[in-house]
Amino acid sequence: MPIYSLNINGAQREVDVAGETPLLWVLRDSLELTGSKYGCGIGACGACTVHLNGVPTRSCMTPVSTVGRKQVTTIEGLDPKGAHPLQQAWLELDVPQCGYCQAGQLMSAAALLKENPKPTDAEIDGAMSGNLCRCATYTRIRAGIHRAAEIAAAPAKPAAKTSKKVGA
Ligand code: FES
Ligand code: FES
Repeated sequence: MPIYSLNINGAQREVDVAGETPLLWVLRDSLELTGSKYGCGIGACGACTVHLNGVPTRSCMTPVSTVGRKQVTTIEGLDPKGAHPLQQAWLELDVPQCGYCQAGQLMSAAALLKENPKPTDAEIDGAMSGNLCRCATYTRIRAGIHRAAEIAAAPAKPAAKTSKKVGA
């Protein structure tokens, strides 16, 4: 089988798979990045959403042979510390219910906020319409995106003053 060299979350990874293998299975089975989920397999639910060069993409419908040099970002690589404003907001507002769809939701929402740092309800609904949630967390997802926009826009906190070393 051919070997594909893929840029995944900033690191070059090699996989030995058939070219028609969906990127989702390469991520989950070959690279053990299981955050992206399989929902429908036909591009209709958004659970498998990752970014290709920053563009939200259905990895279940993306043959690995078409990825080439594009940068693939998965939920595991959205933020090095897992502290993207969306992830902070999701925790703060307790957005997920079962959680299955949420990686895809976050990846679509991250792409939206990059393009549009302060989206309206209608803009959120439009951008997120391809991501389904069987638990119907849509109201919290919308609130979470607004909250993430606030977090991202807040001025950075000044660095804490260095306190005296205990015992110094
Ligand atoms: S699993 Fe890819 S869109 Fe549903
Ligand atoms: S939180 Fe359960 S499917 Fe969305």
